[in-house]
Amino acid sequence: MKLVNIKMKVALVLAFLALGVFSTPQGQNCGPTTYLSNAALDVTPYPPLKGQSSVLTLTGVTPSAMTLQDWDLYWNLNGRLVYQTDISLTGTYAPNANVTVVYNMTIPAQETSGYYNMKLLLQTTDGYYINCWQFNYYLV
Ligand SMILES: *[C@@H]1O[C@H](CO)[C@@H](O)[C@H](O)[C@H]1NC(C)=O
Ligand SMILES: *[C@@H]1O[C@H](CO)[C@@H](O)[C@H](O)[C@H]1NC(C)=O
Repeated sequence: MKLVNIKMKVALVLAFLALGVFSTPQGQNCGPTTYLSNAALDVTPYPPLKGQSSVLTLTGVTPSAMTLQDWDLYWNLNGRLVYQTDISLTGTYAPNANVTVVYNMTIPAQETSGYYNMKLLLQTTDGYYINCWQFNYYLV
Protein backbone atom coordinates (compact mmCIF):
# COMPACT_ATOMS: atom_id res chain seq x y z
CA MET A 1 0.00 0.00 0.00
CA LYS A 2 2.70 2.40 1.06
CA LEU A 3 4.86 1.39 -1.93
CA VAL A 4 1.98 2.16 -4.32
CA ASN A 5 1.63 5.63 -2.82
CA ILE A 6 5.31 6.35 -3.27
CA LYS A 7 5.18 5.11 -6.85
CA MET A 8 2.21 7.37 -7.54
CA LYS A 9 4.02 10.34 -6.04
CA VAL A 10 7.09 9.67 -8.15
CA ALA A 11 4.88 9.39 -11.25
CA LEU A 12 3.21 12.71 -10.38
CA VAL A 13 6.53 14.47 -9.86
CA LEU A 14 7.81 13.10 -13.18
CA ALA A 15 4.62 14.29 -14.91
CA PHE A 16 5.05 17.78 -13.45
CA LEU A 17 8.72 17.79 -14.44
CA ALA A 18 7.70 16.89 -18.00
CA LEU A 19 5.32 19.87 -17.97
CA GLY A 20 8.09 22.13 -16.72
CA VAL A 21 6.19 22.94 -13.54
CA PHE A 22 9.18 22.35 -11.31
CA SER A 23 11.87 23.19 -13.87
CA THR A 24 14.24 25.95 -12.88
CA PRO A 25 13.20 29.45 -13.95
CA GLN A 26 16.71 30.02 -15.21
CA GLY A 27 16.21 27.83 -18.28
CA GLN A 28 19.11 27.33 -20.69
CA ASN A 29 21.08 28.72 -23.63
CA CYS A 30 19.36 27.98 -26.95
CA GLY A 31 21.66 29.22 -29.66
CA PRO A 32 25.04 28.49 -31.22
CA THR A 33 25.58 32.26 -31.52
CA THR A 34 25.51 32.75 -27.76
CA TYR A 35 28.56 34.64 -26.72
CA LEU A 36 27.68 36.51 -23.58
CA SER A 37 29.69 34.65 -20.97
CA ASN A 38 28.25 33.67 -17.59
CA ALA A 39 24.79 34.27 -19.00
CA ALA A 40 21.91 33.62 -16.63
CA LEU A 41 18.20 34.35 -16.50
CA ASP A 42 16.13 35.01 -13.42
CA VAL A 43 12.33 34.93 -13.52
CA THR A 44 10.60 36.27 -10.41
CA PRO A 45 8.04 35.18 -9.46
CA TYR A 46 8.26 31.76 -11.14
CA PRO A 47 6.14 30.31 -12.57
CA PRO A 48 4.36 33.37 -14.02
CA LEU A 49 0.70 33.61 -13.00
CA LYS A 50 -2.36 34.99 -14.77
CA GLY A 51 -3.16 38.58 -13.86
CA GLN A 52 0.32 39.12 -12.41
CA SER A 53 3.74 40.36 -13.50
CA SER A 54 6.98 38.41 -13.55
CA VAL A 55 10.28 40.21 -13.95
CA LEU A 56 12.75 38.59 -16.38
CA THR A 57 16.37 39.56 -15.71
CA LEU A 58 19.11 38.42 -18.09
CA THR A 59 22.70 38.96 -17.01
CA GLY A 60 25.98 38.25 -18.74
CA VAL A 61 29.48 39.49 -19.45
CA THR A 62 30.47 40.97 -22.83
CA PRO A 63 33.45 39.42 -24.67
CA SER A 64 33.85 42.55 -26.81
CA ALA A 65 32.57 46.10 -27.16
CA MET A 66 28.92 46.27 -28.20
CA THR A 67 25.83 48.43 -28.38
CA LEU A 68 22.50 46.76 -27.66
CA GLN A 69 19.59 47.28 -30.07
CA ASP A 70 16.74 45.07 -28.92
CA TRP A 71 15.49 42.01 -27.12
CA ASP A 72 13.35 39.74 -29.32
CA LEU A 73 10.82 37.74 -27.32
CA TYR A 74 8.98 34.66 -28.62
CA TRP A 75 6.17 32.79 -26.87
CA ASN A 76 5.26 29.24 -27.87
CA LEU A 77 2.10 27.71 -26.43
CA ASN A 78 1.87 23.92 -26.61
CA GLY A 79 4.58 23.97 -29.30
CA ARG A 80 3.14 26.74 -31.53
CA LEU A 81 4.36 30.33 -31.82
CA VAL A 82 1.58 32.52 -30.43
CA TYR A 83 3.25 35.88 -29.84
CA GLN A 84 6.43 37.77 -30.71
CA THR A 85 7.63 41.24 -29.77
CA ASP A 86 10.86 43.25 -29.99
CA ILE A 87 11.79 45.42 -27.03
CA SER A 88 14.12 48.31 -27.90
CA LEU A 89 17.26 48.53 -25.81
CA THR A 90 20.03 51.08 -25.46
CA GLY A 91 23.47 50.85 -23.90
CA THR A 92 27.04 50.66 -25.12
CA TYR A 93 29.34 48.26 -23.32
CA ALA A 94 33.08 47.77 -23.08
CA PRO A 95 34.61 44.25 -23.23
CA ASN A 96 34.18 42.29 -19.97
CA ALA A 97 31.37 44.52 -18.80
CA ASN A 98 28.32 43.26 -16.94
CA VAL A 99 25.13 43.49 -18.98
CA THR A 100 21.71 43.38 -17.33
CA VAL A 101 18.49 43.40 -19.35
CA VAL A 102 15.11 43.48 -17.63
CA TYR A 103 11.63 42.80 -18.98
CA ASN A 104 8.51 43.14 -16.91
CA MET A 105 6.10 40.51 -18.28
CA THR A 106 2.47 41.05 -17.40
CA ILE A 107 0.17 38.08 -17.98
CA PRO A 108 -3.45 39.05 -18.75
CA ALA A 109 -6.01 37.45 -16.42
CA GLN A 110 -7.75 35.86 -19.44
CA GLU A 111 -4.54 34.37 -20.94
CA THR A 112 -4.78 30.80 -22.28
CA SER A 113 -3.59 28.10 -19.89
CA GLY A 114 -0.96 25.67 -21.07
CA TYR A 115 2.65 24.77 -21.53
CA TYR A 116 4.67 27.82 -22.57
CA ASN A 117 8.19 28.06 -23.95
CA MET A 118 9.75 31.50 -24.08
CA LYS A 119 12.79 32.39 -26.20
CA LEU A 120 14.74 35.60 -25.62
CA LEU A 121 17.22 36.82 -28.24
CA LEU A 122 19.50 39.76 -27.61
CA GLN A 123 20.56 41.73 -30.71
CA THR A 124 23.25 44.38 -31.16
CA THR A 125 23.22 47.40 -33.51
CA ASP A 126 25.59 45.37 -35.75
CA GLY A 127 22.69 43.00 -36.36
CA TYR A 128 24.27 40.11 -34.44
CA TYR A 129 22.38 37.95 -31.98
CA ILE A 130 24.65 37.73 -28.98
CA ASN A 131 22.46 35.60 -26.74
CA CYS A 132 19.61 33.12 -27.03
CA TRP A 133 17.94 32.00 -23.85
CA GLN A 134 14.84 29.91 -23.24
CA PHE A 135 12.73 28.81 -20.33
CA ASN A 136 9.48 26.93 -19.84
CA TYR A 137 6.51 27.44 -17.61
CA TYR A 138 3.08 25.98 -17.18
CA LEU A 139 0.38 28.62 -16.93
CA VAL A 140 -2.48 27.28 -14.79
C1 LIG B 1 30.49 42.25 -12.74
O1 LIG B 1 29.74 41.62 -11.72
C2 LIG B 1 30.52 40.80 -10.87
C3 LIG B 1 29.58 40.08 -9.93
O2 LIG B 1 28.68 40.97 -9.34
C4 LIG B 1 31.56 41.64 -10.15
O3 LIG B 1 32.35 40.82 -9.33
C5 LIG B 1 32.45 42.34 -11.18
O4 LIG B 1 33.34 43.20 -10.53
C6 LIG B 1 31.60 43.13 -12.16
N1 LIG B 1 32.45 43.64 -13.24
C7 LIG B 1 32.40 44.91 -13.63
C8 LIG B 1 33.32 45.27 -14.78
O5 LIG B 1 31.67 45.75 -13.13
C1 LIG C 1 5.53 45.48 -13.73
O1 LIG C 1 4.37 45.97 -14.40
C2 LIG C 1 3.22 45.99 -13.57
C3 LIG C 1 2.04 46.40 -14.45
O2 LIG C 1 2.33 47.55 -15.20
C4 LIG C 1 3.44 46.91 -12.39
O3 LIG C 1 2.31 46.90 -11.57
C5 LIG C 1 4.66 46.41 -11.61
O4 LIG C 1 4.93 47.31 -10.56
C6 LIG C 1 5.86 46.30 -12.51
N1 LIG C 1 6.94 45.67 -11.76
C7 LIG C 1 8.20 46.12 -11.84
C8 LIG C 1 9.20 45.39 -10.99
O5 LIG C 1 8.54 47.05 -12.54
